[in-house]
Amino acid sequence: MISVLDRVAALAIADELGHVFAASFDDGDAEHFATDQLPTHADRDDFKLVAAWKENVVGFAYGFTGKRGQWWSDRVAEAIGPELTAEWIGGHFEVVELAVLPEARRQGIGTELMQELMRDLPNPRALLTTYADDRPAPRLYRRLGWQLLVPDLGWGSALYGLDRGVP
Ligand SMILES: CC(C)(COP(=O)(O)OP(=O)(O)OC[C@H]1O[C@@H](n2cnc3c(N)ncnc32)[C@H](O)[C@@H]1OP(=O)(O)O)[C@@H](O)C(=O)NCCC(=O)NCCS
Repeated sequence: MISVLDRVAALAIADELGHVFAASFDDGDAEHFATDQLPTHADRDDFKLVAAWKENVVGFAYGFTGKRGQWWSDRVAEAIGPELTAEWIGGHFEVVELAVLPEARRQGIGTELMQELMRDLPNPRALLTTYADDRPAPRLYRRLGWQLLVPDLGWGSALYGLDRGVP
């Protein structure tokens, strides 16, 4: 089952999400995620989190509407130059995290989470950074129609964009 969570509902299960985060990333810190990263991002415009449940949370994805002046937007803008920045940055939906517990992978959950996260968003464009090398995450994004905008931003991450075709 996939559910859509707003700020309050997401923060209520911050510890559970932190556990999934830490189990999904080699350097993932559950406590930092639950007490710092998630609360900061949950305050951003149009914050949306989707969670996949078996008995507990087995995966989640979240994002918000990004703008210049925010750390990620400014860092990416500096790396990609003025033309791509003007086209893509500001008002974009920023996909921040996608994570599925190792034991729940390869069952379509990550794909479903991304589809649900992107459903009915008003943002004309969406952006994310992911691994520059060949891994499940970039393969998943490409399958869902994301285009590779910059193969390597300079720190081992690739920038992907989705033109959602809405005004
Ligand atoms: C990336 C990630 C979220 C994908 O989650 P997932 O639930 O395994 O995703 P899916 O099941 O939708 O797809 C993954 C693979 O399983 C395959 N798959 C999906 N359903 C399947 C099924 N029923 N039987 C066999 N394979 C299946 C997909 O084709 C895909 O294959 P590919 O990697 O060879 O292209 C997960 O690997 C993860 O958490 N990785 C670590 C964190 C990470 O990298 N996050 C993204 C950071 S940008």
